[in-house]
Amino acid sequence: MDILIFGHPALKEKAEPVNNIDEDLKKIIKKMAETMYKVKGLGLAANQVGILKRFFIMDASQKEGKNKLEIYINPEILEAEGSIIYEEGCLSVPGYYAKVKRFNKLYIRAYDLEGKIFERELEGLEAIVFQHEYDHLDGILFIDRLSPLKKQLFKKWWKKHHK
Ligand code: NI
Repeated sequence: MDILIFGHPALKEKAEPVNNIDEDLKKIIKKMAETMYKVKGLGLAANQVGILKRFFIMDASQKEGKNKLEIYINPEILEAEGSIIYEEGCLSVPGYYAKVKRFNKLYIRAYDLEGKIFERELEGLEAIVFQHEYDHLDGILFIDRLSPLKKQLFKKWWKKHHK
């Protein structure tokens, strides 16, 4: 499974809700998980593999040497509070890292692979990764969250490193 890279139009599109949680979706998510773990990413959103549907996978526990896959289908952020700054990267923007300010705590709702709705509280890195992946579903990359000046610097950097 290929991960789309900065410049691909699918990364700027707003994804549509998932209507069917079926076998096809399960197969796609399995492939996405294999891809994500292979490249040691913390998260992977559907847009990044060219699917304009609202779902993503993530596993922030890898940072603690664990392995706990989380799947969020049609996610919603119900409440958000606090703030935290973390140096983010993105599988679609290889090699670039920048500090981004996010909410530190989230209360979210989503569907799981069985089609069951669930609610969860996320904090710290888990909340950061959730917001990063959630942004992907709205066609937003972490570099879009940088100041205009830093975004300019990113563009120069990108031109130099990705011809
Ligand atoms: Ni990303």
